[in-house]
This record gives sequence, structure tokens and C-alpha cells, in this order.
Amino acid sequence: MAAVAVSVAGLLTLSACGGGDKQESGGGQAAQKKVEVFSWWTGPGEADGLKAMREIFAKQNPNFEFFDAAVAGGSGDQARALLSSKLQANQPPDTFQGHAGAELQGYIKSGKLESLNFLYDELKLKEVFPQQLIDQISVQGQVYSVPVNIHRSNVLWFNPSVLKKAGIDGAPKTIEEFITDLEKVKKSGKIPLSIGSQWTLVHLLESVLLGSLGTDAYNALWTANADWSNANVTKALENFKTILSYAGSPQDDWQPAAKQVADGEAAFNIMGDWAYGYFHNPPEGGLGKESHKDFDWAASPGTDGTFMWLSDSFTLPKGAPNRDGAIAWLKVAASKEGQDAFNPLKGSIPARKDADQSLYKDYLSWDLEQWASDKLAGSIQHGVVANDQWRQAITDAVGLFQQDKDVAKFQQALVAAAKNSGQ
Ligand code: GAL
Repeated sequence: MAAVAVSVAGLLTLSACGGGDKQESGGGQAAQKKVEVFSWWTGPGEADGLKAMREIFAKQNPNFEFFDAAVAGGSGDQARALLSSKLQANQPPDTFQGHAGAELQGYIKSGKLESLNFLYDELKLKEVFPQQLIDQISVQGQVYSVPVNIHRSNVLWFNPSVLKKAGIDGAPKTIEEFITDLEKVKKSGKIPLSIGSQWTLVHLLESVLLGSLGTDAYNALWTANADWSNANVTKALENFKTILSYAGSPQDDWQPAAKQVADGEAAFNIMGDWAYGYFHNPPEGGLGKESHKDFDWAASPGTDGTFMWLSDSFTLPKGAPNRDGAIAWLKVAASKEGQDAFNPLKGSIPARKDADQSLYKDYLSWDLEQWASDKLAGSIQHGVVANDQWRQAITDAVGLFQQDKDVAKFQQALVAAAKNSGQ
């Protein structure tokens, strides 16, 4: 039932954006030249980066019309459900956004994507993307997407004035310090931790697991024979329960939750670095806030030295109605010019190793440094370590836990999710 409701909502949003009308709009020469680009970058902060890349595409491709098939909803929680029904019905968009890692591997294994080796050869892309990223989007020597960025998931955003008023001196470094600080904020009368819709809790969970277990134990959770039933996982889930008890009322999505921090209503929010684009971009797209004053950041508690990463990439689905147009889009997404226009506004760093580093300032220069020096861990919510089925089972378990707060039941559900993931 829920899945059906999501798909219908997604379909409505899509037709509101003008998507799906290729056939209806006359089917003539002009309609043929539309390039349907499917993403979920519609909201404040998200849309700015896409717009910058779209402008380059328009300049370079007068014969093609960019067609924005974005479906609203952070982290693609609506878009991914709709996409999967479109792919099942063999009605793909010309190109779609997919996360590098287990999520993309799912599309590859179900035979939905064309190999992009021809494009990698033509543009010499193997030389410009990090090998560990290429590995995440390849199967048996075939590469299946073009990564446009690297995002960091484990960021603690905070409001310096709210912390100061609560008597907190700087960002908490451990989970224990974090819990102490949440209590101090509560006493000061502000919201200790802002949260958004349900997916933002899975996002929070991945940072709490990493911060509680440490990097090696977290990474081991995604390997064969992983042990989700041990006492360290129990302790991590208890931490999650305690931290959640300090959350404000759930906001509609990540932007209103992040805004509570920027507006000084809440002290902390754990969110990916797309929040930086939203905080920092000029009004219209963003909030036009000043870093270190209106908002500040640190590694999420207990995770300093580890970069929990994810990467947005674009694909060439088999049977793309406008294959040439899709390839033209992939060329822009792969290019230095495209990535350097997109990422400073998106709040991410480029996937290309040869990007112009001087364009990445403030939070983004910190991000680049951390990416170069940190250990790596993969995001759950954003498609790196768990395939869609596993992620969905974790999401369901988090939803139930939000209601009943039963750690033992939650852990059992996570053990089952790992066992039945088919990964
Ligand atoms: C992620 C995506 C990011 C950003 C975020 C919030 O899944 O990779 O680019 O859009 O969701 O919507």
C-alpha cells in the first residue's frame, strides 16, 4: 500500500514538473530532442547545482532541450520508488541519478543499464576519477555511470550562539560528549537536535553507528558473515535511542530541519554536506547565512578522521528514448567545467581529481582536505553499502523503532535485514 501511494504521489509530482509528456506533446521532431534528466534535486540548495550544469548543457547542445524530470523529496525517497516502477515497465527516462555503490550495482545486475566503457575510452575518464570510485560503479570491467560528485554524510551542523548560551564550548567530539551537550541545550530551552522526515533518521543512524562502533567495526557490518547481534551494536542502538529522545518534532524534509539550526531554534542537526549549499547559497536557492557565525560544522561525534562518503552519478538506461541526448548530458556531467559549476553550489566536492581546487572554499575546502586524508566508510541511506532491499528493511526497522523505542526488537530487525538482503 505504502509503495503504491508513494508511486502515485511521485507520478503526480512528475507530471506537475512536466515529465512523462514526451509522447503527448506531439511526438514530432522537437519532442524527440528533449532529454529527460531524472533526479530529486528540486528543493532549496539542491536545485542550484543542477541549474548550473543545465546552463552549460544548453550552451553546448542547441539541438537538445533539457527536460527536468526531478521528483521532489530529499534523498530521493519519492523519486527512487517511482524510478523503480518506470524501469520495471521498461519506460526509463533518458538518464537518471543513481548512487555509486550497492544501489547502482542493483540497477546493473537487473540489466537496466548500458555499459559506458565507450564514453570512458573516448573521454579518458579512467584517468580522472579515483579508482575506488570506479570500482563502485563497475561490474566485470564495465563501468556503468558517470559520478558527478562526492558528498560527505557524517557532518554535525550546529548553531554557535545556541551552543554558547547553553554553556557548550565547541562541538562535541564523542557520542558521550554529544549526549551531555544535548542535555545542556534542553535545559537552555532550545531544541537540542532537529530532524526531518523518516529517511533523515536513517541518515542519523549511520552516523551514530559509525561514531559508536568505530570505522573498522562499522565497515565490517557490510561484509559477508557480519555480526549485527553483538553487544557493541546493542550499545550503538542504545546511543541512538538516547540521542533520538532529544529530537524536536519531525520536519517535512531535511531543509526545514536544517533551517531550525540556521534560525537559532535548534542547536544541532546531523546531515550531509548538501546542507552547506542550502545554508550558504544566496537567497532564492539558499539561506545566505554566514559560516562560523550563523552555522558551523564538525565531524559527527566520534567520527573525526573518517569520511562517510556517497556519490551521485548519472546513467544511460537501456532503451533510453533519446540516447544521444543522454550521452550529451553525461559528457557535461563528466567534464571539469560541468563539475566545477555544479559542486560549489551543490555543497559537494568534485569526483574528478583535476578540478579547480580554488573554487572550493570555506566548508568545501575542509571537505576536500578530509577526503584526501580520512579513512572511508560508506553511507547506508545514500546507496553505498546496502542495496535497495536492505536499505528499505533498515528504513522500516527505524520507522517501527521510532514508535516503540524497543532496542532489542530493533536489533533483531537489523539482524534479519542483513540476513535477507540478498547482497
Ligand atoms: C542524497 C543525494 C544528494 C542530496 C541528498 C538530499 O541522496 O545523494 O545529492 O540530494 O540526497 O536530497
